[in-house]
Amino acid sequence: MRDIWESRTSFVLASIGSAIGLGNIWRFPYVCYANGGGAFLIPYLVALLTAGIPLMILEFSLGHRISRPAPLALGHLKKGFEVLGWFALLVGFGIVTYYAVVMGWCFNYLKFSFNLAWGTDTQAFFFNDFLKLSDSPMQIGGIQWWIALALVLTWVCVIAAIWKGVKTVGKVVYFTVIIPWVILIVLVIRGITLPGAIEGIKFYLTPDFSALLNYQVWLAAYSQVFFSLTIGFGVQITYASFLPEKADVVNNAFLVSFANNATSFIGGFAVFSALGYYSSQSGLPVSEVVQSGPQLAFVTYPTIISMLPIAAPVFGVLFFIMLLTLGIDSAFSLVEAGAASIIDKFKVKRVHANIGFGILALVIGIIYTTRAGLYWLDIVDYFMNNFGLLVVGLIQCFAVGYFYSFDDMKDFLARKAGDRSIFSIPAKIVKLREYANSKSDFSIGVWWDFCVKYLTPVVVGSLFIINVAERIKSAYGGYSRIAEFLGGWVVIILFIAVAVILYKKKEKE
Ligand code: PFF
Repeated sequence: MRDIWESRTSFVLASIGSAIGLGNIWRFPYVCYANGGGAFLIPYLVALLTAGIPLMILEFSLGHRISRPAPLALGHLKKGFEVLGWFALLVGFGIVTYYAVVMGWCFNYLKFSFNLAWGTDTQAFFFNDFLKLSDSPMQIGGIQWWIALALVLTWVCVIAAIWKGVKTVGKVVYFTVIIPWVILIVLVIRGITLPGAIEGIKFYLTPDFSALLNYQVWLAAYSQVFFSLTIGFGVQITYASFLPEKADVVNNAFLVSFANNATSFIGGFAVFSALGYYSSQSGLPVSEVVQSGPQLAFVTYPTIISMLPIAAPVFGVLFFIMLLTLGIDSAFSLVEAGAASIIDKFKVKRVHANIGFGILALVIGIIYTTRAGLYWLDIVDYFMNNFGLLVVGLIQCFAVGYFYSFDDMKDFLARKAGDRSIFSIPAKIVKLREYANSKSDFSIGVWWDFCVKYLTPVVVGSLFIINVAERIKSAYGGYSRIAEFLGGWVVIILFIAVAVILYKKKEKE
């Protein structure tokens, strides 16, 4: 008997928790600013409506329909698509190995917050004292033990949170979703009541429409939507596979997507109001205080925290607790999806799957705790997002758009007739859309087929081709070709190989 969510709320919160993560706070505001400010909201919304929400509906319906984790669910469409499911999980695995390291930094910074240990030169503190960043990816240097220890702590927390699968997850998410929301509201209120806040917010939202003509902006919008909604990771399919027969697919997909995007948008206010304050205190223009990804949380934010007139350490502690609680349910969603897939196919014991996963991810993550860690993190992050998630999303559209048919389901229905009679489907249901509608309060129209079959594949496929061409022209981010090769292409090829091996291995009955 498979586990199921104990309530609709548990499922919705778990799915929201997976979507809302570090990406909403440090990725979204910066990506938005770097790609046309307020105007970025247009491609972002287009990507959300044409790819994000349709794919969320797709993942929920497929998971619910087949009621097996991602690889096995996709394998029901056509046997070979199982490889795609494993590849999706591996891409997620690639992401979670460094994501956990960033959470490890948060643990360290949580401790630093108590006495504002980062001092006045937060930039030097982060890069030189804390990361001890070397000069290039090839200069690995030693392991930074405080980061490695925090990484162990992160993995202990993650594995504890999924210890008994969805039974534990369904309870933990009440805390890991609600706590960061409450803290975010506190930080937004604190941010917008600081002097200069309005300048920062203006900066965040003032549109630069010329950016819309740049394909990079569209690429950023699509990859941010995929990353942020945890689509293409195999997670949402797996989470939906634990739904009881009576569940609402379409409504839940909209709910999760909107909750996630509202959080990103509001997160932008917390970040940019604080940047406006920083700018007004330092005399530097806002454009000069905006920093990308890690710098924003670990350099700029600590600076701003130290500047606060009252209770500075309290806001430091709140900020890093928020990041940790945001990150943990994204991280464990991926681990749960991976463990559930291994358990389902190979009938491994849950304890073994949990511990095996944790140890493997921890060992791989050690590379990011070295002095060159940040470089490798950057390269792997880029490749996983642009060559991993987007490709999974693309092929998934293709698989469902063109291979989901009632005929393919016959075998499934025959095999499952015994234990899952509740899933018997009237013969007239030949499309996943019809299935989704049969399970939902409100129906989706042919626009969904259009997005899944034509629009998303064409847009994402074109972006992918342009991106490959770019990488042929020059190495990513000014790194050496060898570093790009090792951190990018080798990882992708390795994941494809492992996905094929997992697919070929015989399923245990
Ligand atoms: N949706 C998450 C975020 O926006 O931060 C991304 C994520 C990362 C999900 C790692 C799952 C994961 F394992």
